[in-house]
Amino acid sequence: MLTGLLAGLLAVGLAGSLWASPVKTWKVGTDPTFPPFEYRDKTTNQITGFDIDLIEAIGRQAGRRIELVALPFDGVIPALQSGTIDAAISAMTITADRARAIDFSRPYFQAGQAIVVRENGPAINGLEDLKGRRIAVQIGTTGALKASEVPDARVSSFDSTPLALQELANGNADAVVSDIPAILYAIDQANLTGLRISGEHLSSEYYGIATRQGSPVLASVNEALATLFSNGEYAALYRRWFGAEPPVLPEVAPGLEANRSAQKGLDLQLLLVNLLKGAAITLLLTVLSFSFGLAGGIGLAMLLQAPWPLAHRLCRVYIEFFRGTPMLVQLFLIYFGLPALLQSLQLPFTIDRMPAAVTALSLNVAAYLSETLRSGIESIDRGQWEAADALGFSPLERMRFVIAPQAIRRVIPPLANEFITLIKDTSLAAVIGFDELFRQGQLMVATTYRAFEIYIAVALVYLVMTTTASLLFKRLERRLRLPA
Ligand code: ARG
Repeated sequence: MLTGLLAGLLAVGLAGSLWASPVKTWKVGTDPTFPPFEYRDKTTNQITGFDIDLIEAIGRQAGRRIELVALPFDGVIPALQSGTIDAAISAMTITADRARAIDFSRPYFQAGQAIVVRENGPAINGLEDLKGRRIAVQIGTTGALKASEVPDARVSSFDSTPLALQELANGNADAVVSDIPAILYAIDQANLTGLRISGEHLSSEYYGIATRQGSPVLASVNEALATLFSNGEYAALYRRWFGAEPPVLPEVAPGLEANRSAQKGLDLQLLLVNLLKGAAITLLLTVLSFSFGLAGGIGLAMLLQAPWPLAHRLCRVYIEFFRGTPMLVQLFLIYFGLPALLQSLQLPFTIDRMPAAVTALSLNVAAYLSETLRSGIESIDRGQWEAADALGFSPLERMRFVIAPQAIRRVIPPLANEFITLIKDTSLAAVIGFDELFRQGQLMVATTYRAFEIYIAVALVYLVMTTTASLLFKRLERRLRLPA
């Protein structure tokens, strides 16, 4: 019976894989947050854009089906390296550094970098004026690279260009450095008002389709591109998306061949310094949020013991909301949502990263801890409550002298759990541009393309932090234990 079942499964599996591949497929990675090159259509939610039309045309030429794989931009090169995708089209600039990790097709688009500022913001007319200012960028992009060259600038990196532009619109950054066509499109089409391009264009760049080093896919892509250039299909596509005639593109991106040398080694000392910097921020975030969260949790747990039904109900709503919605959503809500809402009501409001992250994390921790503390309090035998009453203790004295001292001992293990969870959850603050431990790792990967080594190192640093925390809590627990 079992063998029959297995044979059946095998047959179905075989048939499935035969049916699934009449035409060979290329898995093509893209970060669909970069209109007009790749983005999700507002109504259909399908990935579309100039790049997408182009790769579909290339697929038709090469006789391949295109399967799009949505990835964050800084994940594209690691995905190529690991072979998860066969190619990537993501408005990716051909650079010598990247060409050491992956291969590029011939250029298919000419773009460049520019600075975006707020219309009513500080006067900025070029890279010079960005000194010492706050710049928002998308992680791993050539815009991020340009920004990192500005002396004393405070650069914060976001997972997508729209988030960096939102940061600028909210007044938390003075400028964004990004690709000109994408900026023009965003200013024109998106719901971002009051932004303008400032000064001259910073650079000229060419986009290429990326493949894994030495991949046979590259030759077919180049061949198909050449056909599309000569048969007019490329020009038609260009006109449709940009309403202009395409420029003449070089066959090789300038400056690429000269710089092509062996892969750079990983600078271990730099890695260590950056990870320690990140760990310090992670620790600070954790300690601050845990302290506020604990204070809030104690307050909530007390209110839940008090004889006020309305307070009970409000506490329950609060706890359900913060336990029942993802921390990530809460972070976005407080950092991006609140300022946008208040500013649309003509109320000038901005919130810095640190208070925003600590607020979001503390509110969340308070919700969890209140439940932990409540169950600790309620686990103390009813007889003791009555005994305290009989001795004439007030409710507060009863809590202070009888219940709390015992409850604290019981809640240390769940508190330790919450603390350790929080250490790890602070990594979510990376999405609002915090350079905590995880983001420091991401930033290193974005310039060195050594995903495995760096993320393992990041994981180890977290592990050191969580095990240290757990040892400290164990020690506290032992200290509070009653003599047997
Ligand atoms: N051209 C820039 C770069 O290669 C930005 C590309 C961003 N692309 C995207 N799909 N988010 O770094």
